[in-house]
Amino acid sequence: MINLYPLARPFLMAMDAERAHRLTLRMLATGFAPTGGYADDVLKTEIFGHVFQNPLGLAAGFDKDAEVIAPVLDMGFGFMEAGTVTPLPQAGNPAPRLFRDGKNKSVINRLGFPGKGLDVFTANVSNFRVRHAGHTGLLGVNIGINKDTMSAFEDYSRCLTTLAPMADYIVVNVSSPNTPGLRDLQAENMLDALLAGLVAVMRGIDLPPVARPALLLKVAPDLNEDQRAAVAQLAMQHHLAGLVVSNTTTDRPEALSPLLREEAGGLSGQLLKHKACETLRDFYRLTDGKLPLVGVGGIASADDAWARICAGASLVQVYTGLVYEGPALVHKILKGLAAHVRAAGLDNIAQAVGRDADKSAREAA
Ligand code: FNR
Repeated sequence: MINLYPLARPFLMAMDAERAHRLTLRMLATGFAPTGGYADDVLKTEIFGHVFQNPLGLAAGFDKDAEVIAPVLDMGFGFMEAGTVTPLPQAGNPAPRLFRDGKNKSVINRLGFPGKGLDVFTANVSNFRVRHAGHTGLLGVNIGINKDTMSAFEDYSRCLTTLAPMADYIVVNVSSPNTPGLRDLQAENMLDALLAGLVAVMRGIDLPPVARPALLLKVAPDLNEDQRAAVAQLAMQHHLAGLVVSNTTTDRPEALSPLLREEAGGLSGQLLKHKACETLRDFYRLTDGKLPLVGVGGIASADDAWARICAGASLVQVYTGLVYEGPALVHKILKGLAAHVRAAGLDNIAQAVGRDADKSAREAA
């Protein structure tokens, strides 16, 4: 399939950001999807009991309703994270709610988990599993809560129970800034209770232990040092399989376009890169490098991905970088990562994880 992105890009960028996203999803769903990637044994890595063909994934939020899993994986990603899914369908926040800062290759979103709900999401995942049985790309699902839920625990629990039989890993999202109260679930006592409950739910699911998906937590980059330490401690205490570091930030750095400064929401892309890398480095240190970390935030090149892996990420994800660079980014990152592995004299990408863990974040970002 030819890559139509260079032709489509100017039109997409001239369009309202959310319309452009919907059009991209429609193009992917109808087969206008570039296939590609870069197969190289040095990029294969085993984490959470699964063999990833490569460590590059698509981050949550791109495919909220799990509508384009196969076309996304066929772009060459080793894995993709669908969602965030909520139990019931909901509209999310009023538009406009997605803003580009093209100069800084960054985005602010305050979507607020719009989506078709768990039933549609589950049907789509199930359809992928049936139609693409044996696909080597791995599937994570990211679970959340409805805005007007009576019980966050019940919402997560319902998503977890329903999706466990069909996901390779499940991410509990407590870090999106656009659902009131969600980030408060990262507070020590609330997180302790939530994780204890969800781990118990997972144990009670009627699946052989090896068939159970890995359970991960996605954290915000805006936690302070004490909060990070508490989250890291709880993640280990509850034997989570890993952490996704990080979600978007509520920071508004100096460089951000003045037009966007007053827009509420989470900032992603280049302006998040340094903070996300620093947060990842912290979590690697706080977990003694014992917990697999998924590094995400501002990755837009092979060098960015390599720096994040060397800072402690076992896997990396992109979202905003893909918006600005297009699908050719996948091949570029994978090829560049393989070159980095060889240039460093390593046998495989896993050997690079955390090799620069104690370098200052600023240096590596
Ligand atoms: C996101 N992100 C996100 N994360 C999540 O856990 N659930 C979600 O539903 C969403 N939705 C979402 C929508 C949009 C438009 C963006 C840009 C981002 C956060 C995303 O997964 C990632 O953590 C951050 O965007 C940082 O990575 P990038 O974009 O800088 O590569």
